[in-house]
Amino acid sequence: MRDFICAANWKLNKSPREAVSFFKEFLPIVETSNSRSKILFFVPAIDLWVSQEVLRDTEIGFGPQNIYSKNDGAFTGENSASVSKEIGCTHALVGHSERRSLFFESDELIAEKVKTVLEQNLHPVICLGESLEERKTGKTNEVIGRQLKAALSHVDSEKKVTLAYEPVWAIGTGEVATPEMAEEAHSFLRSQMNDLKGSAFSEKTSILYGGSVKPDNCENLAKMPNIDGFLVGGASLQVESFSQICTAQY
Ligand code: PGA
Repeated sequence: MRDFICAANWKLNKSPREAVSFFKEFLPIVETSNSRSKILFFVPAIDLWVSQEVLRDTEIGFGPQNIYSKNDGAFTGENSASVSKEIGCTHALVGHSERRSLFFESDELIAEKVKTVLEQNLHPVICLGESLEERKTGKTNEVIGRQLKAALSHVDSEKKVTLAYEPVWAIGTGEVATPEMAEEAHSFLRSQMNDLKGSAFSEKTSILYGGSVKPDNCENLAKMPNIDGFLVGGASLQVESFSQICTAQY
């Protein structure tokens, strides 16, 4: 059975002190629940150290929202995958649409980042998704198919990655994709992975949905056979809403 994953993307929110106080309130809630969800936190880089201090003896994974394709050197302002690994990170988010659009990350750069993350034995969560314009002009499959092919171009089929389908028009807008729309994209991605890397790879890869996931829409989305969890932005910032998403019975 594929992992069912609830991942928080805090974006540029929460100081180290706020991160610790969130975890201290959140941990007892999820530790006493019998949910099968695997929980991850993608925190601002400046919060990674305190996150490992609180999370290291738990089942919860965590990591940076972005890493660079090189581990060290003259790359001012970037995050290193090898250092992330050294301080105990388990995962790294790669190719979020805000990185693609605001920081001009190309498919090629994202492919290099995925390669670096895997070389450091971190688990990449690879984001992809179409814009509103692309959906309206019927280009959804073309766009996410291209993003997927590029992101997996250096990935050996023995490796494990996670995908996050996040339609750009649903991120932070309150406009969630219907379960059917999300399922259509997820099953397309699964069939593309089958063609690119074979059925074993395709079947073991969890595909998360992201874009305005809230406690009141997560259960319906999770009923779809190819939705294997969520990447949650806004609703991951409050203990109450994120713990409800993590402890729902899927
Ligand atoms: P949202 O963000 O849940 O606030 O829509 C999701 C994301 O960007 O990962």
